Amino acid sequence: MTTILITGASRGLGLEFTRQYLTEGWTVIAACRNPGTARGLQELEAKSTGALTVVEIDVTDGESVQRAASRLQGRAIDVLVNGAGIYGGHGQKLGSLDYESSRSTSSVRRACARPSSIACSAATGDSS
Ligand SMILES: NC(=O)c1ccc[n+]([C@@H]2O[C@H](COP(=O)([O-])OP(=O)(O)OC[C@H]3O[C@@H](n4cnc5c(N)ncnc54)[C@H](OP(=O)(O)O)[C@@H]3O)[C@@H](O)[C@H]2O)c1
Repeated sequence: MTTILITGASRGLGLEFTRQYLTEGWTVIAACRNPGTARGLQELEAKSTGALTVVEIDVTDGESVQRAASRLQGRAIDVLVNGAGIYGGHGQKLGSLDYESSRSTSSVRRACARPSSIACSAATGDSS
C-alpha cells in the first residue's frame, strides 16, 4: 500500500490532496498544526476506516517535527506533499510593508524548502 505524507492538511490544497488520495486508495498521513480544530480532517478520519492518520506538525518547529517522527517511527513514506504554506503580504507595496507577515511567510518557506528532512525524520525518528 502506497503511503503519502501531506503537510498543511487542515485546509486548502493539503485537505483536498488528502481527500483525493484517500479516494484513490492510498494510505495518508495528514499533518497539520492543530488536529483538534481541523474539522475537515476529522470528518475524513471518521470515514477513512484506518487509511488516514492525522498527526500534529508545525513545519517551522523542529520539536513538533520530532514528536511526529517519533509517532511515525518505522512507517515507510513513499511520497511527500509539502502543502504547508503561507501566502502572506497581500497588497503590500513600498512604504506599507507588513514586516511580521513577511517574516512568518519566510520562515514557513524556509522550513518547507527542506521537505526531505521532514520525511526522513518521520521515517527514522531523527530530526537532525
Ligand atoms: N491555492 C493555489 O492556487 C496556490 C497556487 C500556487 C501556490 N500555492 C501555495 O501553496 C501553499 C498552500 O496553498 P493553499 O491554497 O492550500 O493555502 P491555505 O488554504 O492558506 O492553506 C495553508 C495550509 O498551510 C498550513 N500551514 C501554514 N503554516 C504552517 C506551519 N507553520 N506548519 C504547518 N502547516 C502550516 C495551514 O494550516 P493552519 O490551518 O494551521 O493555518 C493550512 O493548512 C501556499 O504556500 C500557497 O502560496 C497555492
